[in-house]
This record gives sequence, C-alpha cells and structure tokens, in this order.
Amino acid sequence: MKVAETVNEVREFLKTHKSTGQTTGLVPTMGALHEGHLSLIRQAKKENDLVVVSIFVNPTQFGPDEDFDLYPRVFDDDLLKCKDAGVDLVFHPAPEEMYTQHKTYIQVEDLSRKLCGVSRPIHFRGVCTIVAKLFNITHPDRAYFGQKDAQQLLIIKKMVKDLNFDVDIVGCPIIREEDGLAKSSRNRYLNDQERKDATVLYRAIEEGKHLIRKDMTATDLTHAMEAVIKTVPSARIDYLEVVDMDTLEAVETIDRDVLVAMAVYLGSARLIDNFIYSVSHE
Ligand code: PAF
Repeated sequence: MKVAETVNEVREFLKTHKSTGQTTGLVPTMGALHEGHLSLIRQAKKENDLVVVSIFVNPTQFGPDEDFDLYPRVFDDDLLKCKDAGVDLVFHPAPEEMYTQHKTYIQVEDLSRKLCGVSRPIHFRGVCTIVAKLFNITHPDRAYFGQKDAQQLLIIKKMVKDLNFDVDIVGCPIIREEDGLAKSSRNRYLNDQERKDATVLYRAIEEGKHLIRKDMTATDLTHAMEAVIKTVPSARIDYLEVVDMDTLEAVETIDRDVLVAMAVYLGSARLIDNFIYSVSHE
C-alpha cells in the first residue's frame, strides 16, 4: 500500500496504473475510520481495480465554533485498517498541500442551505470544494459515500451533474452498532452515559419507520419521533424534518418519496441519522 502526502505523488502513482486501463474507486474520508468507512472500501474493492482512500480533516467544512481541533486524528490506526482492507493508495495531505492561498470554492445552491446547512452554513461549501479537488487529483471512475450523510450524498451528486464530473457516485447503506447507533467518527465524543442515551436516535428512526404511511402529515410523524427523543432529557434536537428526497424542501403531506432526517446534540456531540421512505414501496 502506497501512502502519498502530495498531489504529485498521487498523480505519479495513478498514472502508471491508469495507463494499463485499471479502474479507480475513491473513498474520501476524514480518518478515524470505522466499520462504515470499511464498508465503503469493501464496495470500492468489489467494483474497481484500484482503491484510493483519502484521509484529510478538511478545515473548510468546519465553522469557527465547530470541532475541527478536536476531530479525532488517529492516522497510524487508520493506516493499519486500510492495509488490512486491501487499499492500494492512501492520500494523506497536510492542510498546506490542499489549501495555500486558496480562493476558489464550490457552492451547490439551495440544497446546501437546508437541514444541516441551517446550523452549519459553510459546511457543504467546504465539502464540495474538497471533494471536487479530490476528484481532480485522482480522477476516479467511482466515488463512495455513506447514506448516513444523506444530504452530503445528494449535494455531491448534484455537483457532479452540474459540473459534468466524469465519476459515478455510489451511495452505500448506513452501518450501525448492534444497538442501532449509526457508526460515526463523532461517536468517540460520547461519554458512557451519552453513548447509552445516543440509541435514542435509532429508537426515533424505528418509531418513524413504523408509523410512516402515505398521506399522513409530516407534523404527526415528527411529533411522534420527537416524543421518543424527549425521553432522553439531555438530548437537544437541532432539526427533525421530513423533506422531499430530491429538493430537500419540507413536505407536509407524505405523498412522495421523502427523507426523514435529524441532527441531535448529546453533550458536545452532534449526531445525525435518517431514513428514506418511498411511497411506491407501500
Ligand atoms: O463525509 C466525510 O467524511 C467528509 O465530509 C468528506 C466527504 C470526506 C469530505 O471531507
């Protein structure tokens, strides 16, 4: 497994392999790899000759009061996981390699302002910018993203379509702990009590999946899900919304495919989770 720290090293490595017609799958990450990332890597291995994993805690997607400094950095551990998973190239640039006197950003309008974009106004601009840079550096045939970050996945698909990137975006299912908590690098912020409490997100998701019916109101659904979350008094809901799957506009009557998405604070951790409801699958 090759570890590259510079854009040139990545390009040199990939040039040799691509000249023989090998296909490339990219798994962009911020490190602190867990089973969710490993599932993306496995999928990428199935579908490509070469797998590239980027590990970069991207400063431009964190707001001034967010957890950039605290974000877990466990590079040696991540490298072992990548090696075991059969990754071909790990790209681990320093911030200066990616952003020196940087002035160019990509903003996907509208979608970036909804859901997480309300409390994290610059987040998706940073995500799109780094992902576009990674696409330009690695020219992957396919790139892999988790459905846990459903809004991110939708925004990246939109960016790829609008800017004609020649890459297939592959969305992969949410991977959960045994008790239902969606795997996330931010779960590391939870203390023992918060970790127990965090299962409330999954319990709310299960309640939502159980109750949701075509033509019911989003208000009835979200009230029932909020009641579950309120069973943990320390949990603070950032948002819990039912939105159109394509536009992320709030929906009042559930008469189309919807994304039911939430962000909930537990202590210092802001956790997200979601499910998709398809009216055609009633
Ligand atoms: O999902 C993430 O970990 C990040 O947002 C990504 C896609 C690696 C961009 O920094």
